[in-house]
Amino acid sequence: MPKDTLTITDNRTGKAYELPIEDGTIKAMDLRQIKVADDDFGLMAYDPAFLNTAACRSAITFIDGDKGILRYRGYPIEQLAEQASFLEVAYLLCEGELPNKAQLDKWEDQVRYHTYVHTNVIKFLEGFRYDAHPMGMLLGAVGALSTFYPDAKDLEDPTCRYLQRIRLVAKVPTLAAFAFRHSRGLPYEFPRNDLGYIANFVNMTFSIGGKHQPNPVLQRALEILLILHADHEQNCSTSAVRAVGSSQVDPFSAVSAGIAALYGPLHGGANEAVLRMLAEIGDKKNIPSFIEQVKQGHGRLMGFGHRVYKSYDPRAKLIKKVAYDVFQQTGLNPKLEIALELEKIALEDEYFIKRKLYPNVDFYSGIIYQAMGYPTDYFTVLFALGRLPGWIAQWEEMLRDKDTKIARPRQIYTGYDERPFVPMAKR
Ligand SMILES: CC(C)(COP(=O)(O)OP(=O)(O)OC[C@H]1O[C@@H](n2cnc3c(N)ncnc32)[C@H](O)[C@@H]1OP(=O)(O)O)[C@@H](O)C(=O)NCCC(=O)NCCS
Repeated sequence: MPKDTLTITDNRTGKAYELPIEDGTIKAMDLRQIKVADDDFGLMAYDPAFLNTAACRSAITFIDGDKGILRYRGYPIEQLAEQASFLEVAYLLCEGELPNKAQLDKWEDQVRYHTYVHTNVIKFLEGFRYDAHPMGMLLGAVGALSTFYPDAKDLEDPTCRYLQRIRLVAKVPTLAAFAFRHSRGLPYEFPRNDLGYIANFVNMTFSIGGKHQPNPVLQRALEILLILHADHEQNCSTSAVRAVGSSQVDPFSAVSAGIAALYGPLHGGANEAVLRMLAEIGDKKNIPSFIEQVKQGHGRLMGFGHRVYKSYDPRAKLIKKVAYDVFQQTGLNPKLEIALELEKIALEDEYFIKRKLYPNVDFYSGIIYQAMGYPTDYFTVLFALGRLPGWIAQWEEMLRDKDTKIARPRQIYTGYDERPFVPMAKR
């Protein structure tokens, strides 16, 4: 009868240990009993970047990278992108179930009620340089909200935590839009509570002289992009929110840590790199030589490949469809033509097939945002808007988890052994 255990023999001592296997994992702490002497600290696992370490249990997002599956709370991303609103998805992620009509109405009302930020936040934003990166502004502004809502520190109270989730979902678009206006030297446009969540955000970014001609197709396209980015389990920024939040700091500070992580080019900046690459290729006729260069190890095909997905990123499939809808409204962009051709050629090429390199979520998102009128350095802010519900859902789950402790990894010390202090005159 097979047992759900792992037997390890320590060849240093000849001793054998039997460790329980639960949910396909062993507990790293079970390794500690493996010692060469009583005063030995015990065996540790070395796993920089947590490539093979489950840091938590989570019931929020399921990914099967080999099969190209992404589900939020069990619902396939394809169905959510097609049928749900962003606020509905935010509720699903944060509260655990799809809302019924009354729950959704209440959630939308509460979000609408909290869209304004304290006017002092505006003074604070005005202090940024004219060319401040919008992502730097957003991370500073969301962190600053912590000083405006000291009540948010009461993490024991579920009602208080719920209020902070509402505040974040409501206020981050306002701050994001202010950051957009700032970089263009435009006066800040205040939230309009007669508009829906997406329409209000678009209005706050693009309205000039109180006027903006809304385009429902582009707004729905933006909404779908936000839904597709809403959560992606334990990625770098989400892990940052969980790790920082595990110190029991308020959620505004924890989320600003997530924004900081997303700001990095390896996380949120790939769609910008795709645009640069498409500009560099310049014309369809240059694609074969570009692909050849990539195959010879000179650069990468940006927007291709993924650490988790080893088949077509399900989000990329949906985004490609959104791209067609958007370009029907805005007119065909030569960059889209290059992207489509590049994708076609790469998908037929042995180099990419063998390495399971498929388009990822970033391959088309940048060209869509550009067609909508957002500048390149704003793409990551849009990513942050989308990812926000995921961050706060994971934050809530982390706080409720009885296994949660303050994040505190171990190290392998590689420095000096003890040595005596050297007085200045002798150095
Ligand atoms: C996303 C990414 C970092 C994942 O990397 P990874 O899973 O760690 O894969 P590796 O870096 O180990 O690459 C495996 C192989 O595929 C190649 N490869 C990976 N991505 C590639 C790409 N985009 N273009 C060309 N070759 C690529 C590597 O050179 C390597 O080849 P080798 O085995 O001959 O050395 C990587 O695919 C990448 O850099 N993509 C481009 C950037 C991007 O789009 N990022 C957004 C991610 S959402």
